[in-house]
Amino acid sequence: MTDPLKAPVDPAALSALLAERRSVRGFKPDAIADDELHALFTDAQRAPSWCNIQPWRIALTKPPFTQRLTDALLHAANTSLPASELPFLVDYPPPYREHRRACGGALYQAMEIARDDKAGRHAAWLRNFACFDAPHVAVVSVERALGPYAYLDVGVWLGYLFAAAAARGISTCAMASIATYPEVLRRELGIPESQTILFGIAIGYEDPTVSANQCRTTREPIAANIQWFAEPSK
Ligand SMILES: Cc1cc2nc3c(=O)[nH]c(=O)nc-3n(C[C@H](O)[C@H](O)[C@H](O)COP(=O)(O)O)c2cc1C
Repeated sequence: MTDPLKAPVDPAALSALLAERRSVRGFKPDAIADDELHALFTDAQRAPSWCNIQPWRIALTKPPFTQRLTDALLHAANTSLPASELPFLVDYPPPYREHRRACGGALYQAMEIARDDKAGRHAAWLRNFACFDAPHVAVVSVERALGPYAYLDVGVWLGYLFAAAAARGISTCAMASIATYPEVLRRELGIPESQTILFGIAIGYEDPTVSANQCRTTREPIAANIQWFAEPSK
């Protein structure tokens, strides 16, 4: 009998899982069982990091606290201007601009919002601050003093979390959007100024009846990202 601990994971199954994972922007209200959440974050905890410093710090909400957080975020989004702690581009250069447009276009098409429908786009943007009705929100921060390399570690952790969630039938959406109201997150979750708030993650079970969940994005062939080196240059 094969030792199950030594059997490799089926790469085709992993490829299918990674291909099927997508951002979900509409959730059922059902909370995830505590032991399942614990197992999910234990999987993500295996992420590698530089010198194994494990810098990700997570404030994780469960119902009914989640509602309190989204009420506060929605209030802020309706009454004040966003201001991220991390600078981000408004205007991307090509080819990133095209990727960004395609991604926004796919979402608005799924939600049946026309390009010139300002009110519709605003309502779609506000859905971020309701955290897409997810029962759980993870707010991810990192110790400011660790500098930008710690962001790489957090990105690796996020990839682990997404894959582990997909394997468990749990849906996710990263939300840089909610980090644009850091003072709300600090106040509600007690996150100290010494932590940079990076993003939130909506976590729960997909509601397939939400139109935004019809959104699908594509990827470039790997030739767009990889330059191969084989023959040593003369
Ligand atoms: C760090 C990060 C921040 C993101 N922030 C948001 C966000 O604020 N709002 C949103 O609707 N999607 C957000 N997304 C989701 C991306 O738009 C999505 O991952 C991308 O379009 C690819 O689509 P897919 O996840 O369905 O494959 C974010 C993703 C990442 C990795």
